[in-house]
Amino acid sequence: MCGIVGYIGGQQAAPLLLEGLGRLEHRGYDSAGVAVLGGTGLRVAKQAGRVRDLGEQLPKRFAGKVGVGHTRWATHGPANDVNAHPHTDAAGEVAVVHNGIIDNAAALRRRLADDGVELVSDTDTEVLAHLVAGSDADTLEGKVRDALAAIEGTYGIAVLHAAFPDRIVVARNGSPLIIGVGEKEMHVASDLAALVRYTTTVAHLDDGELATLTATGFTTYREDLSTTDKAAHTVDVDPSSYDAGEHDSFMHKEMVEQPAAAERVLRGRLDERFGTAHLGGLGMDARETRAIRRVKILGCGSAYYVGQMGAALVEELARIPADAEAASEFRYRDPIIEPDTLYVAVSQSGETLDTLLAVQEVRRKGGRVIGLVNVVGSAIARECDGGIYLHAGPEVAVASTKALTNMFLGFALLALQLGRVRDLSIADGKRLIAGLQRIPEQLEAVLAREDEIAGVAARLAEAESLFFIGRVRGFPVAREGAQKFKEISYRHAEAYQTSELKHGPLALISEAVPTVAVVPYDELTDRNVGALHEIAARRGPLVVVTHADVDLGDVDAVRIDVPRNERELDPILLTLPLQLLAYHAALLLGHDIDKPRNLAKSVTVE
Ligand code: F6R
Repeated sequence: MCGIVGYIGGQQAAPLLLEGLGRLEHRGYDSAGVAVLGGTGLRVAKQAGRVRDLGEQLPKRFAGKVGVGHTRWATHGPANDVNAHPHTDAAGEVAVVHNGIIDNAAALRRRLADDGVELVSDTDTEVLAHLVAGSDADTLEGKVRDALAAIEGTYGIAVLHAAFPDRIVVARNGSPLIIGVGEKEMHVASDLAALVRYTTTVAHLDDGELATLTATGFTTYREDLSTTDKAAHTVDVDPSSYDAGEHDSFMHKEMVEQPAAAERVLRGRLDERFGTAHLGGLGMDARETRAIRRVKILGCGSAYYVGQMGAALVEELARIPADAEAASEFRYRDPIIEPDTLYVAVSQSGETLDTLLAVQEVRRKGGRVIGLVNVVGSAIARECDGGIYLHAGPEVAVASTKALTNMFLGFALLALQLGRVRDLSIADGKRLIAGLQRIPEQLEAVLAREDEIAGVAARLAEAESLFFIGRVRGFPVAREGAQKFKEISYRHAEAYQTSELKHGPLALISEAVPTVAVVPYDELTDRNVGALHEIAARRGPLVVVTHADVDLGDVDAVRIDVPRNERELDPILLTLPLQLLAYHAALLLGHDIDKPRNLAKSVTVE
């Protein structure tokens, strides 16, 4: 949430900053700005709106070879020109860009105002610029340290000072910052996405670390300014994975990448001989694994819904009681942490603050947490006792797709391993392994029917309000389907248990309110079909995501058949058409698919 970039070297900074910000826009896109240090001192350009608007407005001669930039997702104060970053001090000598939240901003604003400082914006960040300017330290590092000592909260910051034109000082606490080492130039960004075009030699700052970037290198420090001697390393990443390529959006690209992503998360982890999974990263031996009495999954949004699918897998395969809970609520109910419960944090970004704080709550109370995380080395991954990396590759679209598929598969691997040290038979283990191996080609088969699904989406896009329904295994699928639909089409989409419809919501069914029903071929098929009759009798239009073996009788419905797998693994194949429905509805409605209104990737605020 919020993207930061910085550059110092031999080239003009502004175009590089704008390019980097364009690649970070998924982190926030309600305003953007850059500050550059050149011959005429510090110059700032910032405004509400997109990075491309800023680029068009930027004066031609915005010269300087040192600069910082920011793309914002508003927390304190509306998205307007004044609240856009960078923020400066009264003399216009200091510029600060910030990702995170300063919790004691109100008190600091009052203190600064009492000291005669005029604050011009509504933001928490502005206090940092004034605090840096007000420090008596004689180095920029000292000034930044003094400013940070006064604040409570989370931050990734980059600071310019006209009196120190040979450097950028950056600091991190809770919001990611990555330094990129170039040829006689240095970059910094909150995400690899903004760096890989220039360099793959990087250093990740840790919480509590500061760093100075000059054109020739970088130095890292602790908060007391003793050096930490961090070295850069090379990351193995294909820069083209951060481009949408031939696709109209990252979401489309990422949906299409799912078969390949699924292969990656399974690769090297399936043991066909013993019908189990190898998950070396869990850091638990067989005795510890057998001692687990309960599994509690924590995630937010779509990760929470996939967590519900994961809980079902754990219960079905390992027969261990399991449930998923919204990580954003978890710590506020003073949860009881049990020593024989395995806590599982699930997150694409590994940055979601609600999930991170839930992990910290568990660990503070002595519990064991493992992570199912996509971004390697992210805060949640580092905070956990072990885990499973998802290997989905970079996910840029705000609406998560391929990472969710890999989360599901990660849960399947975990459930398989937990099951095989208990009562899951070798035959069942082998059956599930064969099922997992079929998933990539079955995902491909669903993707091949995109045009047909687009036709169905066209009907749904017309409705102002929709239901998504499912039962047991199908219910989290319906929840995720509704989530994706509302997130990018801005239609009201409500998920319900099929069985609960008649206890209230059926009152809303009419010709104008379509229902998307998830009806797998399983022990509940007949009951599900019964509910479809009840909807059809109220003239509710029906789209049924189902299997070819399901007989819908004379129900008037548009059906989308997906390939069947083992019943435990079916949920993820039933989910993919719902992604495609949401995508095509949003496309028809003319929405910005990758940047839905009011949202951002990586929610690093509470
Ligand atoms: C929906 C979506 C969000 C995320 C949620 C958690 O498409 O992407 O609901 O799933 O914000 O994000 P991560 O997985 O990064 O923790």
